[in-house]
Amino acid sequence: MMSNSLDYWPEPIVRVRSLSESGITRIPSRYVKPLPDRPTSFSGFDTKSNIPVIDLGGESGGWSEAILGRINEACRDWGFFQVVNHGVDPGIMREMREKWREFFHLPEELKAEYSNNPCTYEGYGSRLGVEKGAVLDWSDYYFLHYLPPFSRDPMKWPSQPSLCRELIAEYSVQVVGLCCELMKVLSINLGLPEDYIQEAFGGGDMGACLRANFYPKCPQPDLTLGLSSHSDPGGLTILLPDENVPGLQVRKGDRWITVKPIPDAFIVNIGDQMQVLSNARYKSVEHRVIVNSGKERVSLAYFFNPRGDILIKPAEELVTEDQPALYLPMTFNEYRLYIRRKGPCGKSQVEALKSPRR
Ligand code: OGA
Ligand code: NI
Repeated sequence: MMSNSLDYWPEPIVRVRSLSESGITRIPSRYVKPLPDRPTSFSGFDTKSNIPVIDLGGESGGWSEAILGRINEACRDWGFFQVVNHGVDPGIMREMREKWREFFHLPEELKAEYSNNPCTYEGYGSRLGVEKGAVLDWSDYYFLHYLPPFSRDPMKWPSQPSLCRELIAEYSVQVVGLCCELMKVLSINLGLPEDYIQEAFGGGDMGACLRANFYPKCPQPDLTLGLSSHSDPGGLTILLPDENVPGLQVRKGDRWITVKPIPDAFIVNIGDQMQVLSNARYKSVEHRVIVNSGKERVSLAYFFNPRGDILIKPAEELVTEDQPALYLPMTFNEYRLYIRRKGPCGKSQVEALKSPRR
């Protein structure tokens, strides 16, 4: 049984940005990954394969049959896709990314006011998981809650740089809107009523939280990762990557595909709860982030999750004699304790939820 407490971090927190700026030429052993986990020599994009890119035609919702079909294929075959012309204001997207970049460049004393703890994770953090002696990832982050409304406390959002809170609020409204449209499409594509997924996730009490990721320059990028391999524990993720610096890699079979970011696009991916709800028609896919010595990288991941206390289980419509329920019901509160304790661990958790073979 895991017994690590979630009351405090097991070791003093080291900010990766300050390590990066200290001028070290070798990274501390705490960040050195075991050989099989290290990025193999990275030499540009894999031009033969990339995650699907879907043009949503500039509308917010009401998408054509053809677009629904492309989204269905992408969910089924990749679990990851990029969307362009998605209706979210590209100006706000850029401002938001640059605002967060500024935040991470603030003096450490200022950011320290927002230091997070492993119980809620809300605030400024530099590790995932509480296992003493764990190998750490080369990144800092900021985690905040937006939905359900009672979980939202803008006083826990950065007050600097100026207008940061206002921008987070504006960006959130738009990204939540896009997510609601996508959840309708996924419901329809699965043959469910269009509000099925949203309702299963708690309707107006569905969860939404933002993690701003900061990947500082790294003197030995071949030895470490910005974020270790994981699948997202929640329902759906809408990621705003750094337009200029690639880093996200998606697993396809036994290979890692480096995603080539498209200007003003979002990257959408399926999380573990969607895998459970769809009875594995759609699967969450492992991904990770590589770092580099020349450029820092900023990304904003918006996670859409079930309300914490509802049981999530395969939709009855998707359970048949031929396709029995693959997963046991579990609440998201219970589910995410695992990643909060262990940190990123590939897909080991959703696999552990498999119901025993009958
Ligand atoms: C995440 C994530 C990818 C990235 O925050 O869960 O996978 O590109 N981020 O930062
Ligand atoms: Ni992720």
